[in-house]
Amino acid sequence: MQQDMIVIVDLGSEENTRMAREIRALGVYSEIHPHDITLPQLLDLPNVKGVILNGGPNRRVEGVDIDVLPELYHSGIPLLACDHRAAQHSCDLTVASLPADRLQTKQLLKSFLFNICKAVPNWTIDNFISDQIERIRRQVGDKKVLLALSGGVDSSVLAALLIRAIGKNLTCVHVNHGLLRKGEAEQVVKVFGKELNANLVYVDAQERFLTQLEGVADPEEKRKIIGAEFIRVFEEEARQLDGIDFLGQGTIYPDIVESGTKTAKVVKSHHNVGGLPDDMKFELVEPLDMLFKDEVRACGKALGLPESMVERQPFPGPGLGVRCLGAITRERLHIVRESDAILREEFANAGLSGKVWQYFTVVPDFKSVGVRDNARSFDYPVIIRAVNTIDAMTATIERIDWDVLETITQRITHEVPGVNRVLYDLTPKPVGTIEWE
Ligand code: XMP
Repeated sequence: MQQDMIVIVDLGSEENTRMAREIRALGVYSEIHPHDITLPQLLDLPNVKGVILNGGPNRRVEGVDIDVLPELYHSGIPLLACDHRAAQHSCDLTVASLPADRLQTKQLLKSFLFNICKAVPNWTIDNFISDQIERIRRQVGDKKVLLALSGGVDSSVLAALLIRAIGKNLTCVHVNHGLLRKGEAEQVVKVFGKELNANLVYVDAQERFLTQLEGVADPEEKRKIIGAEFIRVFEEEARQLDGIDFLGQGTIYPDIVESGTKTAKVVKSHHNVGGLPDDMKFELVEPLDMLFKDEVRACGKALGLPESMVERQPFPGPGLGVRCLGAITRERLHIVRESDAILREEFANAGLSGKVWQYFTVVPDFKSVGVRDNARSFDYPVIIRAVNTIDAMTATIERIDWDVLETITQRITHEVPGVNRVLYDLTPKPVGTIEWE
């Protein structure tokens, strides 16, 4: 069933995303479009029941007020103007102006959606899944899709959706670069290879990455090597597969919104797999590109993925590589992986897993003196980092209970060889970044 849709036209508001989320929370699907959307483009979108002109502080572009094309005022589709200036447009269509006050806003929004637009609240994850399965089948036909399955939330949910839609015509490639957390590669193989019976190519490239990284201490250099090597391994695998026409990509809505709009500056550029050689051209399949992160998680749950996979905290592409500071050694990589697993276990025991945004351990490349069994030790410290944030641009530290910290310290210093101290990072962002490298 195709859902009803409310289109938000960006007239320089900084609240487009919030508005879209509020409408979706009321059960109606909503998308954000630029101010210069044409009437044919608007009419081409499925089931548009109403349009919200969302004006705001960025409405003046290069000294001139921007507005929608005049024809939109005569489209016959109900309009709601959320900008005082927009109300000046006298036209014979439904134009209501929306006071800034939030409480009233919600009531007005509801009344606009359900009384004026007569939208049906049929935006549900199950409807989304069945729509997308149809859409994927239409796009791909009986051709083949390739997907780099990292095991992160977005690529895992995408894989599960593509498996539902096209089964064995999807090939997932999981590259284990040796910088994954404890148990991650095993979970990918178990969930996708065994339970979902996917066409999964597991590539054990651990030695290859570690060799490339040997002696490299500069953080940016490490990132570059990991990124480039990843593309190389993925490309080698892709070349061995026959007749692939499509590349699955776990782009989600914030990636698109954050790539910048016509009225706001770019927050960060849109990451994509990119970097594949020019002679390897694939058409992209991006069925999650209209979902917010929490909707991606809900989609994963509805598709039967385990909670531990869907509720996973963010994890950088270069993985533990940027948490094993300086030149990576096998010994310190082992320390960071094992201590991270203990930290996660104890956070779960303390009921903190769903509450704290991101938490992990870091291992620096220096040692300190300690004492164990009446003898001097000279071992590495482990640093605990636990932060909360909305958008990762700024972050505050989580005030972890002292007892929890002591349990973690006790376990790490006794269960992980080569560690004689545990430290707790109290630095917010700014001045620190979330990661140490
Ligand atoms: P920072 O350290 O810049 O991190 O405060 C902000 C967020 O981004 C994640 N992060 C990365 N993610 N590749 C990624 O995919 C990277 O190289 C990378 N570096 C940092 C970090 O984990 C945090 O959530």
